[in-house]
Amino acid sequence: MKDRQPLMAALNENMLIVNMLLSLFFLPGALTVYCGGYNPALRITTPNNMEALIGSCLQIPCTYNTKDPTYNSSKTIYGIWMKGGVNFGVNPSPVIFNSSGLINTFSLNITGNLKEKNCTTLFPNLTTSHTNKYFFRVENGPFRVTACADPLQITVKDSPWSPSINVPSDLKENQSVTVTCSAFTPCPQSPPELTWNLQQDSLRQTEKNTNGTFTTKIQKNITLSDTHDGYNISCSARYPVIGGNKTAETKVTLSVSYAPRNTSASISPSALVSAGSRVELSCSSRAKPPPSFTWFRNSKDGATKVSVSQVYSFNVTEEEKFYCVATNDLGQQKSSVILVDIKDDQSSEFQILNILKILGIVLLCTSIIIFECWFRFSKKPKKEPEEPTYVNNVMVTKAS
Ligand SMILES: *[C@@H]1O[C@H](CO)[C@@H](O)[C@H](O)[C@H]1NC(C)=O
Ligand SMILES: *[C@@H]1O[C@H](CO)[C@@H](O)[C@H](O)[C@H]1NC(C)=O
Ligand SMILES: *[C@@H]1O[C@H](CO)[C@@H](O)[C@H](O)[C@H]1NC(C)=O
Ligand SMILES: *[C@@H]1O[C@H](CO)[C@@H](O)[C@H](O)[C@H]1NC(C)=O
Ligand SMILES: *[C@@H]1O[C@H](CO)[C@@H](O)[C@H](O)[C@H]1NC(C)=O
Ligand SMILES: *[C@@H]1O[C@H](CO)[C@@H](O)[C@H](O)[C@H]1NC(C)=O
Ligand SMILES: *[C@@H]1O[C@H](CO)[C@@H](O)[C@H](O)[C@H]1NC(C)=O
Ligand SMILES: *[C@@H]1O[C@H](CO)[C@@H](O)[C@H](O)[C@H]1NC(C)=O
Ligand SMILES: *[C@@H]1O[C@H](CO)[C@@H](O)[C@H](O)[C@H]1NC(C)=O
Ligand SMILES: *[C@@H]1O[C@H](CO)[C@@H](O)[C@H](O)[C@H]1NC(C)=O
Ligand SMILES: *[C@@H]1O[C@H](CO)[C@@H](O)[C@H](O)[C@H]1NC(C)=O
Ligand SMILES: *[C@@H]1O[C@H](CO)[C@@H](O)[C@H](O)[C@H]1NC(C)=O
Repeated sequence: MKDRQPLMAALNENMLIVNMLLSLFFLPGALTVYCGGYNPALRITTPNNMEALIGSCLQIPCTYNTKDPTYNSSKTIYGIWMKGGVNFGVNPSPVIFNSSGLINTFSLNITGNLKEKNCTTLFPNLTTSHTNKYFFRVENGPFRVTACADPLQITVKDSPWSPSINVPSDLKENQSVTVTCSAFTPCPQSPPELTWNLQQDSLRQTEKNTNGTFTTKIQKNITLSDTHDGYNISCSARYPVIGGNKTAETKVTLSVSYAPRNTSASISPSALVSAGSRVELSCSSRAKPPPSFTWFRNSKDGATKVSVSQVYSFNVTEEEKFYCVATNDLGQQKSSVILVDIKDDQSSEFQILNILKILGIVLLCTSIIIFECWFRFSKKPKKEPEEPTYVNNVMVTKAS
């Protein structure tokens, strides 16, 4: 007897620890009211909290487990669901379902095979009055145990869940990525219809998650380009419910990095300036992340870097060629070449001189013609018309 004392103490201590752990993980109320402070002989595995949509169904993934030796799967197994926080056996029976068919208040259906300890249950046509805490119970010969430590909270909502759009992070042009839109599917018997503004050839699939719940998704592979940057992908989920559909939408904006594009160089005030005056070369480009700029002077010996800024100003002394390069993490691009030239001020002086010369010649010719006319007019009455004309001509030629 004395040998057993420490053992009992150790057992009590273990149970205390178990209880303390249980109190940490489960509602203390549930423990004291339903479990009476002991480790229950029946445990179920199910999501603790499940959401459902009014007018739709809810499939509860559920398996149970027991180590109790009185449990005998060869005997008839009754699966029972109880609703609310009522003291079992004290208050009116909270049983809403008995797989014997005796009770079925909510038209539930245990679709799982109880002999395989599968208590998967389908709640059809939910209403807000279904929002509550539920407990599972197994009756199997003398084994009659409620999984009091594992309450299942069901919350029935009126508004559907927004689907989620999944895009890998850090998108770059030329990358091929898979875009997925997925929606929570509490009722896999009538999954939501997903549509999006990407091509509709995407296949809809309803998949089982590791926790037994379902997800409906569509996906598409796209090869990214700079045009996808800032593109909004919107996906909508239409849940069929009794008497209509309920729809929710989600939007994401793509952010795609790309190498510089449309790189161009411009000059101000103009590419033709008088010697010694100042010009400003400016480079522009479209790139993500924003590019850095480098200016180069082109000569027979090759290109020389002259500036590492977007704008390069200098005083023109001779004819030169320039171009800029825009660079970011993804690449670089060259602009076309700009020719800076000096306005030929001397040549314009020559032009003025030429104009003056032409003017002089014109003036000379005009005066000669006037002179000739005057000469003919004055000589005509005195001499014969044939001779003087000839003589006059000779005279005129000599004069000029
Ligand atoms: C079940 O798993 C899915 C995906 O892993 C998750 O989105 C969902 O929230 C989980 N459900 C519950 C009730 O834990
Ligand atoms: C389980 O029940 C079956 C049928 O009632 C019986 O034949 C079998 O002996 C039981 N097994 C145990 C371990 O009690
Ligand atoms: C479930 O149904 C069986 C068979 O009719 C019955 O023996 C058992 O008492 C019922 N249990 C509950 C909790 O209603
Ligand atoms: C329960 O579900 C099973 C399988 O899904 C089906 O064959 C059966 O007809 C359903 N029972 C009821 C009462 O709806
Ligand atoms: C339980 O039964 C359901 C069918 O109602 C099935 O889809 C599920 O895979 C089963 N779970 C396990 C763990 O076998
Ligand atoms: C769904 O439940 C509502 C409210 O309980 C009821 O009026 C309706 O007839 C049910 N519909 C079906 C198809 O079971
Ligand atoms: C999309 O890409 C993934 C891998 O990135 C591949 O497994 C899948 O087959 C592709 N789907 C289509 C429709 O091309
Ligand atoms: C994407 O959506 C945002 C707001 O969410 C809007 O400001 C932007 O203009 C949209 N972009 C395009 C390309 O439609
Ligand atoms: C629900 O959506 C389906 C599919 O587009 C459509 O055929 C049906 O008319 C809609 N029902 C209601 C009530 O709007
Ligand atoms: C930018 O460059 C692309 C070709 O790379 C061209 O199609 C587009 O018109 C250019 N955009 C502008 C604003 O110049
Ligand atoms: C460059 O030209 C500007 C006028 O265009 C003038 O004011 C400035 O003094 C010049 N600088 C040099 C270093 O010649
Ligand atoms: C993407 O592909 C285009 C065309 O092949 C190429 O010009 C560009 O440099 C590529 N961009 C990146 C970041 O590799």
